[in-house]
Amino acid sequence: MCRFTSPDATGHNARVSVCFVTRALPGPALDRLAERHSTTIWPGDLPPTPQELRAQLAAVDPEALICTVSDRIDAAALDAAPHLRAIANYAVGYDNVDVAAAAARGIAVGNTPDVLTDATADLAFALLLAAARRVPEGIALVRDGGWVTWEPSRSLGAAVFGATLGIVGGGRIGTAVARRAAGFEMTVLVHSRSTELTFEELLERSDFVSLHCPLTEETRHLIDDSALSRMKSTAILINTSRGGVVDQDALARALHDAQIAGAALDVTDPEPLSADHALLRAPHLLVLPHVGSATVTAREAMTRLAVENALAALDGQPMPHPVSPPAAQVRDAS
Ligand code: GLV
Repeated sequence: MCRFTSPDATGHNARVSVCFVTRALPGPALDRLAERHSTTIWPGDLPPTPQELRAQLAAVDPEALICTVSDRIDAAALDAAPHLRAIANYAVGYDNVDVAAAAARGIAVGNTPDVLTDATADLAFALLLAAARRVPEGIALVRDGGWVTWEPSRSLGAAVFGATLGIVGGGRIGTAVARRAAGFEMTVLVHSRSTELTFEELLERSDFVSLHCPLTEETRHLIDDSALSRMKSTAILINTSRGGVVDQDALARALHDAQIAGAALDVTDPEPLSADHALLRAPHLLVLPHVGSATVTAREAMTRLAVENALAALDGQPMPHPVSPPAAQVRDAS
């Protein structure tokens, strides 16, 4: 789908640039981009494969790219777009973009912070409650006709009210999860670069461990065999950050061995996992299809922020929502 609008039609005198958007995005904001710039939107319901993406970039030769977490924007993709000046990632996390390679080419990179904080924190809490109270299991029991009578000892879960919640990553989303936990009178422990509490102590003391750090070289497989072995056998792991923060083989082992009581994931590595992936056979596991920011409000606002980033960069202005340079990517973002 292509939309072309001349500057005359909009009253803008600025030069018309070429933009490529890797998926149709919700809300009206993309129209603002298409009003001013020649905008091509990838038409598929599925994201472009890396080969398709490179071919599109070479064919469209965009100056601005709006991409999603499904797109790997690596050096090879950047080489296919020699005139690219701006990458507006449709997400707060930007591990899918090689920011260093972009910086080396003078390409600005931006993301969509803040507007998805509450949606993602809500989903983290939804996962926490669902896993603690075995909600999906109960729904399946009733739906499949397996519920015979009220039973004193069936479906016993973990108490959330008053429990201890360990939050890894003290950024916006982690802080928003802590606010929700206050309503449940939970003891909240936070581990980040700026807190004194060690990661190990958080793991050992928490009834629920919720991950809210970005995926960086420092945090890849942060939750590994060693981390899982420190968690209580009654603890539940929640991940709404990035799949790569968890060593999924280690998690599968921990669930099979009842080393921890359960895990609830909104993110996996890769996404999606194949239906026969070993992790999906692990007990006491919930997996959602990466829907942390999936509210109408958040997703439409994300489109607006991505468009603002692209428009600013094309106007030669700093992006309003730039990402930090790679050296500053630490445990605290999101
Ligand atoms: C979604 O995963 C995001 O980082 O915004």
